[in-house]
Amino acid sequence: MTSAKPHVIIIGAGVTGLTSAYFLADAGYDVTVIAAHVPGDESIEYTSPWAGAHWRTSATPAEPTICDWDVQTFEYWVELLEREGRDAGLPKCGIKMQDSYHFWDTELQEDLWWAPHVKDFRQLSPLRDPVATINDSSSNKDDAPQIKWAAACRAPSINVPQYLLYLQSQARCLGVQVIKARLPTDAGFENALLSAESTAKAHGRKKADIFLNATGLGAAKLCGDEGMYPIRGQTVLVKGEAKATRTRNGDGYVAYCIPRPGSGMTILGGTKEVGNWSEAADPETTRLILERNRVLAPELLTGEEGGFEVVSVQCGLRPGRKGGTRMEREIVGRRRVVHAYGHASGGYQNSVGSARLVLRLVERSLDGDGVRATARL
Ligand SMILES: Cc1cc2nc3c(=O)[nH]c(=O)nc-3n(C[C@H](O)[C@H](O)[C@H](O)COP(=O)(O)OP(=O)(O)OC[C@H]3O[C@@H](n4cnc5c(N)ncnc54)[C@H](O)[C@@H]3O)c2cc1C
Ligand SMILES: *[C@@H]1O[C@H](CO)[C@@H](O)[C@H](O)[C@H]1NC(C)=O
Ligand SMILES: *[C@@H]1O[C@H](CO)[C@@H](O)[C@H](O)[C@H]1NC(C)=O
Ligand SMILES: *[C@@H]1O[C@H](CO)[C@@H](O)[C@H](O)[C@H]1NC(C)=O
Repeated sequence: MTSAKPHVIIIGAGVTGLTSAYFLADAGYDVTVIAAHVPGDESIEYTSPWAGAHWRTSATPAEPTICDWDVQTFEYWVELLEREGRDAGLPKCGIKMQDSYHFWDTELQEDLWWAPHVKDFRQLSPLRDPVATINDSSSNKDDAPQIKWAAACRAPSINVPQYLLYLQSQARCLGVQVIKARLPTDAGFENALLSAESTAKAHGRKKADIFLNATGLGAAKLCGDEGMYPIRGQTVLVKGEAKATRTRNGDGYVAYCIPRPGSGMTILGGTKEVGNWSEAADPETTRLILERNRVLAPELLTGEEGGFEVVSVQCGLRPGRKGGTRMEREIVGRRRVVHAYGHASGGYQNSVGSARLVLRLVERSLDGDGVRATARL
């Protein structure tokens, strides 16, 4: 790298764009983030604030790159929490190591490759709590599903609104500028880059050496990537912080409760509806989410008539992509671009591994062989 720091314009301020901004700035790049939505905003076009979120990998051994991203992120968060624990003066990132329970209503078919990478992984006896109690409360009803396999571990859960603000402020401390602006999507990708450049210039930033496309589902419109599709997730925010994260892999459904550290609230979920763009919450889905979580999070049944105290109901659209996450270099017109979008259900747990790959792709592109558009991961 020359003494003049290369300037990277990142489009997108979700967990992908902001984590990349932090890692690039930390490596010595000059970074500008341009995004239609920034931490604190809520929009169906901005997935990151709607996540649960917890570290619960959905990668399989057939996807070694994604497995590796998730492990890198886990380890990075452990170190981050250790630093926070040692120095009370550090800003709080909103992540906490939680007891984490996993229940399966069907025989275990999943490859638990991740077991050695989380903390204290162990199979749970069905004769002891929490499985026994869940099973007991289910056996009151004839047709209620029973848990067939259960495990526990310790893994991070993330207060996502807080973590996004934290990432943004950490990036700003390293000189990253965040500009709130929407780029046009109706005149092609190159035009969007041109517009990004003039937006940055209007804010006193220099010409970009390279762009990072971290637009999530927005990539569908922005660059016309027809492989992008939504994976809709409806959740319910309730009062009280559950004592543990719990995930139930039911037969044909998933139920989960994820405490949001420090917020006094818990996210209950949830759905994964491929191809559905609807922003409106479905009342029947809300009812099912609450019913399925009664046995998972009984400590939160503090409302009238023994129900949950519902704060809000919301939907988010996970950025799915045919062929998986797009992480590659491209030359658009004469501009260098690195793409990083389509993280589907794993944007948080992918974030650190994904950002480190972004850093390598940016380095390679600027090294001069950027004219070859294909990425070598
Ligand atoms: C209910 C639910 C639960 C989830 N749970 C988890 C979990 O437990 N663990 C986990 O790891 N992941 C989870 N996820 C997935 C995770 O939320 C996503 O993978 C992640 O948020 C994607 O982030 P992103 O930064 O790629 O996209 P986004 O957060 O959508 O960010 C896109 C950015 O691009 C900007 N943008 C787009 N178009 C334009 C434009 N034309 N001009 C300017 N800016 C533009 C937007 O304004 C925004 O800033 C969950 C998601 C949902 C919905
Ligand atoms: C839960 O209870 C059912 C019915 O009593 C039983 O078949 C099942 O094995 C139990 N689950 C576990 C994990 O033991
Ligand atoms: C981001 O990538 C998508 C998919 O290729 C593309 O449609 C979009 O124009 C890109 N956006 C920018 C600003 O480069
Ligand atoms: C999308 O979800 C909504 C709310 O649950 C539902 O009413 C609608 O029928 C779904 N649309 C599609 C195309 O599945």
